[in-house]
Amino acid sequence: MCPNVIFKSERVKRLPSSKTYTTKTIYNSHVLHRAYRISKNYKKGRKRRLKKGILLAIEGLDGSGKTTQAKLLYTLLSQEGYNVCYLKEPTDGKWGKKIKKISQSKKRVISREGIQKEFELFLKDRKFDVENNIKPNINKHAIVILDRYYYSSIAYQGSLGYIAAEEIKKENEKIAPRPNIVFILDIPPVISTTRIHTDGENGVRNGFSSFESEKNLERVREAFLHLRDPIVHMIDGTRTRGAILDAIFNVVISIAQSLEVH
Ligand code: TYD
Repeated sequence: MCPNVIFKSERVKRLPSSKTYTTKTIYNSHVLHRAYRISKNYKKGRKRRLKKGILLAIEGLDGSGKTTQAKLLYTLLSQEGYNVCYLKEPTDGKWGKKIKKISQSKKRVISREGIQKEFELFLKDRKFDVENNIKPNINKHAIVILDRYYYSSIAYQGSLGYIAAEEIKKENEKIAPRPNIVFILDIPPVISTTRIHTDGENGVRNGFSSFESEKNLERVREAFLHLRDPIVHMIDGTRTRGAILDAIFNVVISIAQSLEVH
């Protein structure tokens, strides 16, 4: 099952000069046409199978454009004929709902104990995601796009100085498969807070959650920038949507092509 799969109930629109289907909520046609142009191998109706699943995570500060890029990528890869799954953390499961409640009620407790509890909640939610969504889809040889994963825990919970980044990584890798690739969309905190306040990734934001004060975001950004991991790709999130999508798509498609069953 791919529970967070997008476009299920969203309205779908056909653009005039391409055969591309998309949703009103995430596209502007400029990005779409650019996306379509780079999708050179698009052949209508062709299904592509992979020798094994691909797990990729898109990470970054709130308002960095993760969700937009994840959805664009989902659409492009689906058009290419791949079996794709989009998942978001925190999830809509029991633990994810609890996290969202804390975040929205601004009751985040910044202390050693508070952050340890928060870390454990994210870990429980991730375990749920891995067992119910990530592994089943990887087993079906899908391309699984994660809109946040354990690199968010390293950056958000790790940047406060109570739990070491290495420890967070180690605990997560006990329960969660290591992704094939991670994209970090890097933006300055001032852009993040402006977007959160006005019109964020989906045009639905209208304020801060308790994870999002500018001071915190500065530390979170530093933690993302200091990730030393060969699977991490840093992307300048201030570039245009089309340019960012090009960069992500080119990396992903080359992995997918190398795993294709012919
Ligand atoms: P939410 O608004 O649901 O997601 P997003 O901002 O990506 O649209 O809020 C999720 C918040 O949770 C976000 O501020 C980052 C934070 N977070 C962590 O602190 N640790 C984690 O492991 C994850 C997955 C998210």
